[in-house]
Amino acid sequence: MVFLFLGFAGCGSKPLPEQGSSVEQLYVNRCGGCHRPYQPSTMTAAMWNEQIVAMRLKIAQTGQPPMSNFEEHQILDYLERNAGTR
Ligand code: HEC
Repeated sequence: MVFLFLGFAGCGSKPLPEQGSSVEQLYVNRCGGCHRPYQPSTMTAAMWNEQIVAMRLKIAQTGQPPMSNFEEHQILDYLERNAGTR
């Protein structure tokens, strides 16, 4: 897990909301493996709803362990409550 954080340090990117919380870490873990974790505010709640489904497919296609329902809910909740308005 440590290498993930090192990878993101020093990119000059804004910290994610709720930094240090378990859901933020889950998000970085599950959604930051193939690309940098996107800022929740860059998409609306509706868009996140679609993205999470698209990413479930990507994860399946690359043979990575799927998100559990619980994880998916946690992540989607996190994205939605921090989502942008347009
Ligand atoms: C298995 C690798 C993988 C994982 C894990 C992954 N993604 Fe992605 N993601 C991709 C790829 C590849 C793209 C490039 C766009 C495409 O091919 O559709 C992408 C693109 C995106 C985009 C940009 C789409 C756009 O239209 O600009 C968003 C947002 C995104 N991912 C969110 C997430 C979220 C949220 C998660 C966690 C649930 C996640 N990703 C996990 C592979 C992954």
